[in-house]
Amino acid sequence: MKALLDILGEELKRAFRDAGYDDGRVGVTISNRPDLCEYQCNGAMALAKEAHKAPLEIAGEVISRLEGSQYFEKAECVKPGFINLNISASYLASYISEESRDERYGVGNMHKDRVIVDYGGPNVAKPLHIGHLRAAIIGEAVKRLSKYVGNDTSGDIHMGDWGLQIGLIIAEMKERGMDRMPTLDELSEIYPAASAKSKEDEEFKDKAMEITYELQHGNEGYLSIWRHIMDISVADLKENYDKLNVSFEIWKGESDADPYIADMVDRMKKDGYAYESQGALVVDVCEESDTKEIPPCMILKSDGAALYTTTDLATLVQREEDYKPDSVIYVVDKRQDMHFLQVFRAAKKCGIVPEETALEFLGFGTMNGKDGKPFKTRSGGVMRLQELIDDVYERCLERMRENGAEMSEEELRDTAGKIGLAAIKYGDLSNEARKDYIFDIDKFTSFEGNTGPYILYTIVRIKSILRKYAENGGKDGTRILPAANPSEKDLMMTLTGFAPMIEGAWRDLAPHRICAYIYQVANDFNKFYHETRIISEEDKDRQGSWISLLILTKGILETCIDILGFDAPEMM
Ligand code: ARG
Repeated sequence: MKALLDILGEELKRAFRDAGYDDGRVGVTISNRPDLCEYQCNGAMALAKEAHKAPLEIAGEVISRLEGSQYFEKAECVKPGFINLNISASYLASYISEESRDERYGVGNMHKDRVIVDYGGPNVAKPLHIGHLRAAIIGEAVKRLSKYVGNDTSGDIHMGDWGLQIGLIIAEMKERGMDRMPTLDELSEIYPAASAKSKEDEEFKDKAMEITYELQHGNEGYLSIWRHIMDISVADLKENYDKLNVSFEIWKGESDADPYIADMVDRMKKDGYAYESQGALVVDVCEESDTKEIPPCMILKSDGAALYTTTDLATLVQREEDYKPDSVIYVVDKRQDMHFLQVFRAAKKCGIVPEETALEFLGFGTMNGKDGKPFKTRSGGVMRLQELIDDVYERCLERMRENGAEMSEEELRDTAGKIGLAAIKYGDLSNEARKDYIFDIDKFTSFEGNTGPYILYTIVRIKSILRKYAENGGKDGTRILPAANPSEKDLMMTLTGFAPMIEGAWRDLAPHRICAYIYQVANDFNKFYHETRIISEEDKDRQGSWISLLILTKGILETCIDILGFDAPEMM
């Protein structure tokens, strides 16, 4: 299915050609003066100079070629040469009918790439804290969007499972004389204790580093503790991500990159890319066009230990072997942008990935509290993710009780869970990922305004109308008639924007566009709903047409929130 703006654009091109003009710069856009018209074309202005004519004159000639066009019910020119257009209600209805019959609402299945989204990045044995929230939420949305446009997509959690934190835990266990494997609860106490100790006690820290080194060089005793920590942590992580409706196809971590490091480093040396500098092994990654200094990418420390850059590069070696991805998208805190710039350049320079493989870094900003500073617990500590989820959930439950929701206690809890997730995810995703944002529980959980619960409320409202209609014996599948009033027409026009919106959101890795779009759909729908008596309508064709429009609206809203990673309850 062609995008509506393209169809209208072609009609304008035809009119320009018929009037004897070049159509190269002619296109149609959504009007920026909705009080004057629905669409506009600025082509006459662009042509004026070469045609030696006033733009208004050109516009007038073009408009006369649009008389009788099936696409427009109004086409007029205004100074200095704009062409203002209103779409014909009957053409719009036929376009919307076709869209509603298309399972994918006009989104082509044209992307066929193999895509890996690297997101999550939790460090095992440390509890998930709110710093991990954005990676999970944005990464999941990008992954689902990639799948929706047709790519063969996998999400890789890329756990931090090979670093000092494991050495710290083992050192602490030894110091305590623990002679059995720790439980999850013990682990969540041991790690912070060990981490605090290492900051004061040099000797302890050295011991932990030594253990880490031995672990990474095959000490069987340490490896068996590590395996145990991995087992219980992964189970716990799965449970936690599950609650966020986040899941990964690939459960690999930094440790899985380890077997690829030695060969990779050898090759980098042999090919002359890696050289020794002050004892360390580095690869130069600066380029002539750089406007700031890009330091060399460190491959090995002077003691021969691998670094964060090393594991990321070796992971690319592994991904190349296992998947040959066309693109790898990293959804990670934007403060790591230098790390990824170095890794990407080194990977291309050393031939770890082919030149045409897209390596993309979607760096996200910080989630701040109302004071504009990084979000903290009431007592000022780092907030555990679970604590935040619980707070939001309680707030949603409270709001539902205030609203007098009529449902069983179980349904109430289940629904509050869904609303809470929508509040958290939409609150995050409606902001451009790269920017910092303020996490405001009261605002995010509100049932009104630009919030997740408002979107859910709109879907629930449509579901309830459809239920009533079905109870009254109404049937689906009626043809969509030309809009009966301006608010219905507005809703239809917005619904035609779904496919181009999805394409744009994917092209720019911008899930916030999906939020902006569904907010517009919800607003248009609610306006239409308040002005229209659907259930009491006597004209059955008219009523059936509205129901078809509702089904399309609901389908598009549900598709969008599914991409964003949450779903709507039956009632709320
Ligand atoms: N574990 C890392 C951290 O906590 C994030 C990992 C991001 N992904 C990657 N491929 N480096 O900072």
